[in-house]
Amino acid sequence: MPILEVKNLTKAFDGNAVLEGVDLSVERGETQVIMGASGCGKTTLIRCLNLLERPTSGQIVFRGEDVLGPQVDVRRLRSDIGFVFQNFALYRHLNVLDNVTLALRKLQRKSRVEAQAMAREELAYFDMAAHEKKFPAQLSGGQKQRVALARTLVMRPQMVILDEPTSALDPLMSQEVALLIRKLQARHITTVCVTHDIAFAERISERIAFMHAGKVVAQGSVAHLANVSTDVNVMRFFASHAS
Ligand SMILES: Nc1ncnc2c1ncn2[C@@H]1O[C@H](COP(=O)(O)OP(=O)(O)OP(=O)(O)O)[C@@H](O)[C@H]1O
Ligand SMILES: [Mg+2]
Repeated sequence: MPILEVKNLTKAFDGNAVLEGVDLSVERGETQVIMGASGCGKTTLIRCLNLLERPTSGQIVFRGEDVLGPQVDVRRLRSDIGFVFQNFALYRHLNVLDNVTLALRKLQRKSRVEAQAMAREELAYFDMAAHEKKFPAQLSGGQKQRVALARTLVMRPQMVILDEPTSALDPLMSQEVALLIRKLQARHITTVCVTHDIAFAERISERIAFMHAGKVVAQGSVAHLANVSTDVNVMRFFASHAS
């Protein structure tokens, strides 16, 4: 059974339809990529998944539970679905260690000692142990991203969503970010990753949902989308992004 099922999801902002019936299902432990041209609704879709946006209609079922139902616990949902923002959204006034322990202490009510032990283990996993006293302004983009990932994973989410993890970084970093995604895969963490970087998508998964104008219009690997798909929007996207 998929861990996440989205059915006929729609979202309109002030009467303007942005999602027009998205269907998507994500298998447990897999990396699901969402691709598509700018403005097609990728960010809106993933923001709906943990209710940062309220969909207009449709269905989202996460671990068998109706996310749009009246009894859903939004706080629990957001701790089950970790979200790594495009700009990493670290707390500027907190050092690396405190960035990673904050939610453990405030939301999970861990003691300082326990939270720090968990945070240090997660930081070590992302090779950031030596930087725990630094503030975000003293880190490179790639290091900020590692801290953002450690901060998300330390909460032990059931699923992690990343919005354009390569876009705030140097283009040459795309390979490094792919290695970070591999670390999530090694831990069998279900991941939904938005990107418009074809080479990056190819490195991280064969499960790609291609969106156009608020719908998933094709699915498959990069090779499938680039060579087999006959969807005109997929063909246009790959033709214009070919290097
Ligand atoms: N809060 C909002 N209010 C009104 N319109 C919005 C809002 N958020 C997004 N939109 C509109 O919804 C459409 C889809 O936006 P979205 O951010 O989901 O696209 P995207 O596929 O993530 O694009 P990009 O690749 O540029 O990040 C755009 O036309 C955008 O202007
Ligand atoms: Mg976006």
